[in-house]
Amino acid sequence: MAQIYSRIIATGSALPERVVTNADLEKIVDTSDEWIRTRTGIRQRHIAAEGETTGDLAFRAAQQALETAGVKASELDLIVLGTTTPDIIFPSTACLVQHRLGANGCAAFDVNAACSGFVYALGVADKFIKSGQSKKALVIGAETLTRMVDWNERETCVLFGDGAGAVVLEASSEPGIYATCLHADGGYKELLYNPVGVSAGFKDEPGHGVRIRMAGREVFKVAVKTLDSLVGETLQAAGMDESQVDWLIPHQANLRIIEATAKRLNMSMERVIVTVDKHANTSSGSVPLALDYAVRSGKAQRGQNLLLEAFGGGFTWASALLRY
Ligand code: COA
Repeated sequence: MAQIYSRIIATGSALPERVVTNADLEKIVDTSDEWIRTRTGIRQRHIAAEGETTGDLAFRAAQQALETAGVKASELDLIVLGTTTPDIIFPSTACLVQHRLGANGCAAFDVNAACSGFVYALGVADKFIKSGQSKKALVIGAETLTRMVDWNERETCVLFGDGAGAVVLEASSEPGIYATCLHADGGYKELLYNPVGVSAGFKDEPGHGVRIRMAGREVFKVAVKTLDSLVGETLQAAGMDESQVDWLIPHQANLRIIEATAKRLNMSMERVIVTVDKHANTSSGSVPLALDYAVRSGKAQRGQNLLLEAFGGGFTWASALLRY
């Protein structure tokens, strides 16, 4: 039987209108544009308006991807949405978006793998397509992470932004996604987490809202080491070497982490998609936003090989190597 691949036929993205610069943050916490830029590469981030939700951004990104693909929502047989900031506890944001698109009836569910959410969702959808279960899938990464940021805590509030990206996948006899690698190690929970939730209780420490806890320096070290071995594993799984990768499309958390991964791949930064300066860390939104930018700016061309990777709370880490 001929091999079935999942091919990305189109991409889309959505960002909230409001832009908050580093200079704006200087007014609310003891920080500086210089500190944020040199430590992270971030210059600005988009922040969702009051009432604007993850589902709103996901819907806009999905609509754009479907329009670009020329695919009707009713043709979809699967929606997988990576998020750690769902609109409500249930139904899943994937179900909310499915209904707004008019794709009612197809399988729809969320994947929570923190910042690796989109790449995890892509890996899951790829398996559905490869197994013959699905022919046309919508994969979304969407977040309003700034909703769980403590705006008094300079160590974290400068790092995050909101946004969403989406891709339409189609079953094809042409490549396609060559390999996906998904991993997690829950032993690292304490380094990056949000303790508030349904079963553990909704209360955080007095005086704080729902907020992210992060040991930044430790996260940084593990991320660099883990992504280093992840890209090696991915190349091996796809039967490729570094020279065959045209573009690295990394999770956009920190420019220094991105540079370390590029170095490992012997890639010049000219072949790396960087959006962290404009978007900051949008968690599950970051890789599909960067992918959509790569496509719409004309950088990523049909027939080129793209290496997507992400790392996040859990810890989780995931990659995909594909021919666009
Ligand atoms: N503005 C100014 N100073 C700040 C600051 C801010 N926003 N945040 C922290 N600082 C201070 C610290 O208090 C510390 O001061 P001290 O030396 O007097 O104690 C100093 O800057 C250095 O802090 P440190 O944590 O060592 O900086 P760093 O070089 O490790 O950079 C991060 C901090 C968070 C940018 C970096 O560790 C990082 O990016 N980690 C990964 C985080 C991440 O990507 N998380 C998501 C993963 S998906």
